[in-house]
Amino acid sequence: MNIEEISKSALDAIKNAETTTRLEEIRVLFLGRKSEITVAFKGLGKLDPDEKKVVAKSLNDTKILISKSLEEKKSLLSKKEKEERIKEERIDVSMPGRFQGNGTLHPVTIVMEEIVEIFHRIGFEVRTGPHIEDDFHNFEALNIPKHHPARAMQDTFYMEDGKLLRTHTSPTQIRMMESDKPPIKMIALGTCYRKDATDASHTPVFHQIEGLMIDKHVTFSDLAGILSLLLSEVFGGETKVRFQPSYFPFVEPGAETLASCPFCQGKGCRTCQQTGWVEMGGSGMVHPNVLKNVGYDPNVYQGFAFGWGLERIAMLKFGISDIRDLFTGDVRFLSQFGGVR
Ligand code: FA5
Repeated sequence: MNIEEISKSALDAIKNAETTTRLEEIRVLFLGRKSEITVAFKGLGKLDPDEKKVVAKSLNDTKILISKSLEEKKSLLSKKEKEERIKEERIDVSMPGRFQGNGTLHPVTIVMEEIVEIFHRIGFEVRTGPHIEDDFHNFEALNIPKHHPARAMQDTFYMEDGKLLRTHTSPTQIRMMESDKPPIKMIALGTCYRKDATDASHTPVFHQIEGLMIDKHVTFSDLAGILSLLLSEVFGGETKVRFQPSYFPFVEPGAETLASCPFCQGKGCRTCQQTGWVEMGGSGMVHPNVLKNVGYDPNVYQGFAFGWGLERIAMLKFGISDIRDLFTGDVRFLSQFGGVR
């Protein structure tokens, strides 16, 4: 091809190009390292000086012409392509969004947070304790010596070093009294472990709330008052507390605490087995032996303690009939409590 033909076919190709990619191909074809123009530039040395001058000028002019035409078309096509891209990528705000589910608090967590809030208001501090306890804190200091029959009701997992997974939150009472001096107003909430067979109201892992108040003039009425407040705040103003004599080695007197059934307001229903009352957990006045075990003088100090099951509270509050539902992690079940706060 002579130079005019090259120039003409390059300008035609540029004119017909529809994309910047095609333009780049044209640039490589006509001005690239292997293009006829570049090869001709390299061969200039072989020409005699007069001829060289003429050919070089015509090659240069053609190169400038093609380059200029490429530049002009490139800016045109780039603009067009940018506009198309913006059009394509435009967010259609009228399209329905993709659903992103929110997580919800677990019913037991909801109850825990509510109880912490209630006790904060009346000046109780929140403590925790280790899940792997020693025999002294879980049993011995709580007036449950070795071979005491009460241990059989709280069988658990023992480590090789004699430590165990705590069976209740009551060891937090001992830890609190060891580290602090009276007056004491404490609650502790957390996980407990027992070798209990699973059924509708028992699981081997569950949660309790422990309460402890120690001072010089603490009476059973204080216990009754605090537990009434707890029940009416969690279940509603009408819920009443009732004490039924019971035995726990670490309290004397000891009582099973019952609440008037929040489902039937004490009239009798399936949940309360027609009795009008539901069991919440144990309570009583701290046994003098327990006070002695932590170095408190039982003639100067007394106090109350209670330990309730948190799953029990959550089940009554939200109308859950089987404790196992709280542990399966089924989102269809758990998402029902999303709006409860
Ligand atoms: C105790 O654990 C005593 N520490 C409570 C206590 C504290 C009494 C302070 C006096 C003073 P009990 O074993 O009854 O008591 O358990 C208390 C509550 O924990 C029960 O009423 C029940 O609600 C819950 N609970 C016990 N075992 C399980 C289990 N396997 N699954 C679910 N909840 C349980």
